[in-house]
Amino acid sequence: MALVDTRKMFEMAYKNGYAIGAFNVNNMEITQGIISAVAEEKAPLILQVSRGARSYASNSYLKAIINVAVEENPDIPIAINLDHGDNFETCKQFVDDGFTSVMIDASSKPFEENIEITKKVVEYAHAKGVVVEAELGQLGGIEEDVVGVSSDDISKHLADPDQVVEFVQKSGCDSLAVAIGTSHGAYKFKKEPKLAFDILQEIGDKLPGFPLVMHGSSSVLAEFKDLINKYGGDMPNAMGVPEKAISKAAKMAVCKVNIDTDLRMALTAKIRQVFAEKPSEFDPRKYLGPGRDAIKDMVKHKLHILGCAGKAAECS
Ligand code: G3H
Ligand code: 13P
Ligand code: ZN
Repeated sequence: MALVDTRKMFEMAYKNGYAIGAFNVNNMEITQGIISAVAEEKAPLILQVSRGARSYASNSYLKAIINVAVEENPDIPIAINLDHGDNFETCKQFVDDGFTSVMIDASSKPFEENIEITKKVVEYAHAKGVVVEAELGQLGGIEEDVVGVSSDDISKHLADPDQVVEFVQKSGCDSLAVAIGTSHGAYKFKKEPKLAFDILQEIGDKLPGFPLVMHGSSSVLAEFKDLINKYGGDMPNAMGVPEKAISKAAKMAVCKVNIDTDLRMALTAKIRQVFAEKPSEFDPRKYLGPGRDAIKDMVKHKLHILGCAGKAAECS
């Protein structure tokens, strides 16, 4: 099956109470790890590329790697999404480069301006058959190319359910990332993890059938956090979104769940372990290989948490 957009995936995910995993890719090993997991679990997939990924690896390399993955897995529907497009020009470039989905993140702009920018992207993308994800409310956390609000301020920047309907109607976006208390990166909560499920429910009630997206949804798995800390790393206070909360959101209106940090931590943990246990190792295949295997096992596990394992056929 060729690259697909997210329409059918979201329709089935919404109807049947699961979510599609959207995994960020930066290199071949990460992509291969994810692909072998979805191939074994027969799950639909969204691969996504951030501006940071593109400047690290270049679009041609990433697209070539993804194209191989698509060709080798004809039974798996795969969508490719620009993650956090920062303006119209970036989104236009990715549409022109063959992505099947783009995200315009104008969430830091005032409400009316966010609508205006999103609408412009929607008009351009839809004319080329590409779907658009937008964002309302602001997430916390800081990644290379995505700057969010500080974690102390997260609760002040949650999505406002009253604005969501107006935003979706006026902008024409196909899906919407709503801020409900998650943030990017490995330090999402200082104390107890807490998500605003009441807001999620309210938005879902106001827009029945409309697919919502959850960013910042890595769980910061203890297995990898412990390995990193054991083998010379320093991430003692890292904390993610509990997997129970991910499963709960996936049964609600959330149809797409974004995961990047868990991939980074799996790869880093295994590389650290190899270096610590075999200091004489200098063959990259001997440390990237175990990292790739760890990503595969981790993603397989996630597909069950999301409920999309075994759903490739119904999303095709
Ligand atoms: O949304 C954030 C993703 O984790 C991408 O991060 O900009 O460092 O590639 P990045
Ligand atoms: P994490 O940092 O929780 O993996 O979130 C990734 C993300 O939302 C990418 O857009
Ligand atoms: Zn994000």
